[in-house]
Amino acid sequence: MSYTLKLRIWRGDKEGGEVKDFPVEVSEGEVVLDAIHRVQATQAGDLAVRWNCKAGKCGSCSAEVNGRPRLMCMCRLSDFEEDETITVTPMRAFPVIRDLVTDVLFNYEKAKELPSAQLGPRDADGKRRMAQIDVERGQEFRKCIECFLCQDVCHVVRDHEDNKEAFAGPRFFLRYAELDMHPLDTHDRRELAQGAAGLGMCNITKCCTEVCPEGIKITDNAIIPMKERVVDRKYDPLVWLGNKIGLR
Ligand code: SF4
Ligand code: F3S
Ligand code: FES
Repeated sequence: MSYTLKLRIWRGDKEGGEVKDFPVEVSEGEVVLDAIHRVQATQAGDLAVRWNCKAGKCGSCSAEVNGRPRLMCMCRLSDFEEDETITVTPMRAFPVIRDLVTDVLFNYEKAKELPSAQLGPRDADGKRRMAQIDVERGQEFRKCIECFLCQDVCHVVRDHEDNKEAFAGPRFFLRYAELDMHPLDTHDRRELAQGAAGLGMCNITKCCTEVCPEGIKITDNAIIPMKERVVDRKYDPLVWLGNKIGLR
């Protein structure tokens, strides 16, 4: 069954832009990215949109659907009423290049600031060993597809551009935690996470966890444990409060 979707898309570039109406025919079972592609094919051939896998695995098609950070290829039209207007805008926390495409360089710059793993000496037989539980702990963190939706939603940078210099963001707190929990890594990342990466600016709002398409428990499994590692929990009021009001 098909119907006409009331679709609105932000069009513009770094100089400015506006949301425009693109009513488009859609069918049952389609996702927002299908509708965007149909607009591109039939009404606006120059509409800029970044995508690749159409399977929720490449992290390219990040945008905001009705103001909420989403992967467009995983956002089902059936989640909305047929007469509802769907407005698609670029990620707000990053500079627009054109239409729905943003410049996510900020994230790559933050990645460069993070020291890579530095392994200790091998065992006498030339091998390195780690416990199975340590292998498994890191698996969740490695599911990250670098869609940067968590970076986009985090209020620390979303509404405060000037915080970007001092704040690496949830995707990188995840990486700090992954490496800090790695039993063979010899770096101590705690001071770096708290200082240069701005872990202390996170006040555990959990919005990052809510938007993660991989379902990674960013706050519970990475950020709070890192905060606990950095500061004795008795002296970190946010960890104390998190425990008190049941955030964990
Ligand atoms: Fe995307 Fe989740 Fe990775 Fe953040 S942690 S970049 S939301 S996959
Ligand atoms: Fe931001 Fe996530 Fe912390 S949204 S404030 S990094 S819990
Ligand atoms: Fe790859 Fe959407 S196109 S995640």
